Amino acid sequence: MTQLAIQCEVNDKTVAAQLEPRLLLVDFVRQHLGLTGTHVGCEHGVCGACTLIVDGAAVRSCLMFAVQANGANIDTIEGLSDAGQLTALQDAFHRHHALQCGFCTAGILTTAWALLREEPAPSRERIREVLSGNLCRCTGYIPIVEAVFEAADAIRSAA
Ligand code: FES
Ligand code: FES
Repeated sequence: MTQLAIQCEVNDKTVAAQLEPRLLLVDFVRQHLGLTGTHVGCEHGVCGACTLIVDGAAVRSCLMFAVQANGANIDTIEGLSDAGQLTALQDAFHRHHALQCGFCTAGILTTAWALLREEPAPSRERIREVLSGNLCRCTGYIPIVEAVFEAADAIRSAA
């Protein structure tokens, strides 16, 4: 099988690899890099569990080939917290009990992270709209929306 060379930044570290062209980005991150915080749910772009931040945008990594990430800057859930501390977003999720089984949580956090970088003051309606592509079977979404709303406030206050 032909292999293609890629190089990208993952959580601020340079990564180089030779990969089969059909390898999905989510499988590269989980199986080749060992970053298993990103989950695989539906594998066809519906559930949002596999969401990564690629060049600043929330991307479903089950819909992207790893070789398409050549030259890209990727953040996974492992890269969102700095120096072992919870970010404002993670802290708000913790305080609002915005997760139960946690299967969806990495994808929701990366999606919300990308939203707050683009839109620092989203309304609750906007947060609901953006997170409508991330399926959670457990929480009912109210604590998730409240956590994102509160984290936006905390991030603006800290800026
Ligand atoms: S696993 Fe990618 S959207 Fe569900
Ligand atoms: S917390 Fe279980 S799927 Fe969201």
